[in-house]
Amino acid sequence: MMTIRPASIEDVVSMLVIEKQVFPHPWTEDHFQYELKENPYSFVFVAQWQGQIIGYIDWWQTFQTAQINNLAVHPQWQRRHVGETLLTDTLSRIKLAQCQNITLEVRVSNLAAQKLYLKHGFKILLTKPAYYDNGEDAYLMGKTIGDE
Ligand SMILES: CC(C)(COP(=O)(O)OP(=O)(O)OC[C@H]1O[C@@H](n2cnc3c(N)ncnc32)[C@H](O)[C@@H]1OP(=O)(O)O)[C@@H](O)C(=O)NCCC(=O)NCCS
Repeated sequence: MMTIRPASIEDVVSMLVIEKQVFPHPWTEDHFQYELKENPYSFVFVAQWQGQIIGYIDWWQTFQTAQINNLAVHPQWQRRHVGETLLTDTLSRIKLAQCQNITLEVRVSNLAAQKLYLKHGFKILLTKPAYYDNGEDAYLMGKTIGDE
């Protein structure tokens, strides 16, 4: 059975393996360490299958607002609802914490991720021109919590 649990420092190695496979500009080890050890607003959860880390999500929660900064699923586990489970788990947690809205940025070329977010009630709010290192635009997507 797949479980979702808070990430620990020991999970960074496995998260990095996935991170490097799925992103052109992967987060570094220091970035994950900062999120887990220092950033008081960050939450990192992993999806685990038989002891193996197969995906993770990172978000920040500040009072009534949350922001997803990272979501990734191991290439061999994609399209098996792992990303969706991580996202819905996060949405329930932030709802319990009485967050009122959640936002994220996504590459305009990343149709898979956009479809996932649209399926779960996010809307495209605006375009951020040349948001990424390679000059690509981002969509800012957002969802109001507690209105469904
Ligand atoms: C985006 C990502 C997290 C999705 O996770 P996943 O576990 O593969 O996706 P799921 O199986 O949970 O898919 C849920 C829904 O998302 C959409 N979706 C996911 N992958 C898709 C794809 N390749 N093409 C089209 N739609 C897709 C579908 O609507 C799907 O619902 P369905 O299965 O009922 O059709 C994963 O593909 C990934 O890690 N990609 C690389 C990193 C990345 O882009 N992260 C997001 C940055 S904003």
